[in-house]
Amino acid sequence: MNNRFLDACWGKPVDRTPVWLMRQAGRYLPEYMAVRSKCTFLELCKTPELAAEVTIQPIDILNVDAAILFSDILTPVEPMGMKLDFVPGPVFEHPIRSMADVEKLRIPHMEQDVPYVLDTIKILRRELAGRVPLIGFGGAPFTLACYMVEGKGSKDFAQIKRMMYTAPEVYAALMEKITMMDMEYLNAQIRAGAQAIQIFDTWGGILSPSDYDKYVLPFTTKLINGLDRQNTPVIHFVKGAGTMLETVKKAGGDVMGLDWHVNLGKARDVLGTDMAVQGNLDPTVLYASKEIIEAEVKRVLDENADRPGHIFNLGHGILPTVPPENAIHMVECVHRLSQK
Ligand code: CP3
Repeated sequence: MNNRFLDACWGKPVDRTPVWLMRQAGRYLPEYMAVRSKCTFLELCKTPELAAEVTIQPIDILNVDAAILFSDILTPVEPMGMKLDFVPGPVFEHPIRSMADVEKLRIPHMEQDVPYVLDTIKILRRELAGRVPLIGFGGAPFTLACYMVEGKGSKDFAQIKRMMYTAPEVYAALMEKITMMDMEYLNAQIRAGAQAIQIFDTWGGILSPSDYDKYVLPFTTKLINGLDRQNTPVIHFVKGAGTMLETVKKAGGDVMGLDWHVNLGKARDVLGTDMAVQGNLDPTVLYASKEIIEAEVKRVLDENADRPGHIFNLGHGILPTVPPENAIHMVECVHRLSQK
């Protein structure tokens, strides 16, 4: 069993730096497109045998040190009572705009409402046995609220911010409900066999540090405190958090996910020795030449300066038009350049 990833999450020394890629299963892989051409994205998420198949593809192709469950952060939001579509970005037909909308949301019963997620995890633990650990994941309450209130992606997030400032009681009731859903969803994943959990807060960085502290931190903290995580490290990835790492650290994860806007070494100085880090190559570097990719991998490893507790990753998801051979080369560089 390759335990480098879990050892690094706990800050233990490893023989070489473990690496995986956010969104490592996806459209840049022809093998993914072959499966995906036969069904919609949501059907793929809801068919455990297929979801497991595409989860394993990057393990075989890239030689990464961890697998991440194939699903979406919005999967558990649909059974809360919000019809979901992907076109290809996510769209909710009826966004949340009032207290009445929040009150109608239900907390799903995970075993009954998203059995396919838990079944995918069980299949994967069998198929990955003796190979690499499996990461489960969920969206952070704030990022889920962004999609639920905006109804889709957004450039300015005017609707969710307007709700925060003008209807704080609606905002708080929504965040509270999402937090309780998330806690049950992630604990169900741990019970089904997920060996680490990543919380994706893709939009946490759109807020000022003081608004993050006031409107996001209490909910993410409650979520992380509510997880059964004795043996299950929690990776907290807040995109755009470089200017507020001390605040984000208070949420309490074991590993801080970093985007590429921060120098990894400086981030570690701020975070201290009791927290591991994950990141943080700019995903667009994978468009560059083999030489530049190698130099950039070396730069990130050098910034970490051999400190234990580093998991190599991109600073955000891999882009759909990246050539797979460049991702394979990146993983090979991480392993070769960090080998003890
Ligand atoms: O990392 C992995 O390989 C696991 C799979 C995974 C997906 N989505 C598959 C996916 C994970 C971890 C996610 C998380 C996710 N989903 C996030 C947080 C991470 C991030 O990237 O910021 C967010 C914000 C979403 C919401 C979402 N889902 C968006 C905005 C989109 C459209 C993306 C696009 O590029 O068009 C999706 C769809 C989606 N999720 C796809 C995949 C492979 C593409 C669907 C397809 O095959 O058409």
